[in-house]
Amino acid sequence: MRPPSGTSPASVVEVRLDQDSWQEHLAEATAAGLAATQPWIPPVWFYDEAGSVLFDRITELPEYYLTRAERAILAARSDEIAHLTSATTLAELGSGTSEKTRLLLDALDRCGTLRRVVPFDVSEAVLRQSVGSISEQYPHVSVNAVVGDFHEHLAPLPTDGPCLLAFLGSTIGNLTPSERQGFLGNVIEVLGPDDWFLLGTDLLKDRDRLTAAYDDARGVTAAFNLNALRVLNRELSADFDPTEWRHRAVFDEEHGRIEMHLVPNVDVNVRLRAIDLSRTFTAGEWIRTEISTKFSADAVADELADAGLDPVAAWTDDNGDFLLTLAQPRGTSAN
Ligand code: SAH
Ligand code: TRP
Repeated sequence: MRPPSGTSPASVVEVRLDQDSWQEHLAEATAAGLAATQPWIPPVWFYDEAGSVLFDRITELPEYYLTRAERAILAARSDEIAHLTSATTLAELGSGTSEKTRLLLDALDRCGTLRRVVPFDVSEAVLRQSVGSISEQYPHVSVNAVVGDFHEHLAPLPTDGPCLLAFLGSTIGNLTPSERQGFLGNVIEVLGPDDWFLLGTDLLKDRDRLTAAYDDARGVTAAFNLNALRVLNRELSADFDPTEWRHRAVFDEEHGRIEMHLVPNVDVNVRLRAIDLSRTFTAGEWIRTEISTKFSADAVADELADAGLDPVAAWTDDNGDFLLTLAQPRGTSAN
């Protein structure tokens, strides 16, 4: 129901991340990662303000087909999704700018069901911006944003009626298999019998197209990856010299995933004062900064079903590059 004219529903930002314990958690993870035989760093370091701007540029690159393909599916299927779900709340994990999500919001609005939007992201600055633009564009809808880690702070979702929980952009591919299992376990816990899960996943394809999507000609992805070193310098008093490192994207056939690496051009010695850690990187060593898993349609359906989420419909774009799956908690009306 729309509020009387002249009043707008509330727009609130709930911060579930306690800054101190979050910084401590990230510091510990980074210390463990950099001390490991195959060094790695937590990917959340990517998404400071500069990183979020670079990510938006990635989504517009000619090589980065994912966003365009997912948007095409949403453009074709949002009305169907709105009719199937009759959702009154649209919640979105790792929402970023929620740009593609507008297609779902418009469709739910056309259906007349939309009452609330719940953007959920670890990056408070980006979240606050998108809360502003969603409230402006959908003044009759309440916006209950959550600043949190989707591994830790999912419950409870501030829903108002049947909820469509969206996880787009193939962000699920950035999780390891055991992280995905834990994450989907949390999703099923937080969903009620009338709720829905909408998942975007990138599909396995030609290796050259995959690597190009993560190593573009303009170097935007390289800048995005290298930005993580600047964030470490700032947040953990590290002394990385980004000019001594280069970006690399490799497709790991065995695990069906792209790995993003930062590779030193020379032997480098780095110190992270805040975590009291020093480490030398010599030729042939690298830091793994991100994985991006590529799925078969069957594997997505199986993983969802293993978690107790039954796929109700799945759609690809015309090119068959990307998959959008709508699922329901097992044991609810349709299944
Ligand atoms: N959904 C958008 C943005 C994807 S980029 C799209 O499809 O284009 C990934 C987003 O997830 C970023 O906004 C980042 O800040 C957020 N993110 C990454 N790790 C997260 C975590 N652990 N918890 C919550 N949000 C996270
Ligand atoms: N979810 C996005 C993906 O896997 C994230 C991403 C795109 C990314 N480009 C990147 C992460 C480059 C690290 C580096 O496609």
